[in-house]
Amino acid sequence: MPIPSKVKLVDVGPRDGLQNEQEPVPAAVKIALVHGLQEAGLKEIEVTSFVSPKWVPQMADNAEVMTGIARQPGVRYSVLTPNMKGLEAALASKPDEIVVFGAASEAFSQRNINCSIAESIERFAPVVRAAREHGIHVRGAVSVAVGCPYEGEVSPESVGRVARMMKEIGVQHCGVADTIGVGTPRKVQAAMEAALQHYAIDEVSGHFHDTYGQALVNTLACLELGIWQFDASVAGLGGCPYAKGATGNVATEDLVYLLRGMDIETGIDLDKLVDAGKAISDFLGRKPNSRAATAILNKRSA
Ligand code: HMG
Ligand code: MG
Repeated sequence: MPIPSKVKLVDVGPRDGLQNEQEPVPAAVKIALVHGLQEAGLKEIEVTSFVSPKWVPQMADNAEVMTGIARQPGVRYSVLTPNMKGLEAALASKPDEIVVFGAASEAFSQRNINCSIAESIERFAPVVRAAREHGIHVRGAVSVAVGCPYEGEVSPESVGRVARMMKEIGVQHCGVADTIGVGTPRKVQAAMEAALQHYAIDEVSGHFHDTYGQALVNTLACLELGIWQFDASVAGLGGCPYAKGATGNVATEDLVYLLRGMDIETGIDLDKLVDAGKAISDFLGRKPNSRAATAILNKRSA
């Protein structure tokens, strides 16, 4: 399989990143982050989630953030919706895409969305149907696709099973997530190949947390399979409140640096992306968690 010449990156920083911050982040700061990302050329941004505010209080301002964005033509804005209540709330702010999120392990499904894998699929089915009736694209996320914080190693068969169930209820895209960043290239390829049993190459993406520093090599391993869509998080923000110890997604800056160096087109302006990452990191009172951003910022100040 030839390495793709073009890659689509979805920045999940405003959602995956900011859902994990202890200190409240005002809606205006989240909106400014989305604006910074679209200014840098991101064509898809995962903005927020319509989940229970008791479970994830950081996303309670979901509607305010969605309505506050000055939308740019050609940019897609996605939101997480775990159930009909979430979808109904999300519809008012007209997302381009919704994400239903399941898991490849029973324990993680219970901890994250309070139900079994089978129950989650039952809950997602009407969400998927209603979203598609509204012309909204539906992405599915399969969490803990290589390792689970509660059950340990996860088999490719478990990933394939959830991918099949998602396909059967009409989910249009399958995002394979290494939630706790434990994967290494062959294991990630095996998880991806399991998803590819049910989804076409244009319908899968990788979502790699970088806990063990493997996300870039895992991305490269996916490029070798012809996969060309990935989630990433500006400044390496992120983590899941129900996956203790897991750090953020691979930094979008690091991924863009890698892809640019391989002459793979992303449409993203790395300098502007670094600016967006620096602005949110300044607000959070820390440095961007990105080697490429750090190098570029050091070079600028030299
Ligand atoms: P539950 O408690 O089983 O839900 O939670 P319920 O239906 O029994 O309802 C309980 C209460 O929640 C009720 O309110 C509902 O109205 C309310 P009360 O009557 O007690 O006042 N409720 C809601 N409120 C707002 N929006 C909603 C909603 N649904 C119910 N949508 C539920 C089930 C799924 C809601 C809960 O477990 C939840 O919100 N979980 C979200 C967890 C989450 O957001 N995790 C992080 C995102 S996933 C992730 O990060 C992984 C990913 O990045 C990929 C990867 O890396 O693996 C995507
Ligand atoms: Mg995640």
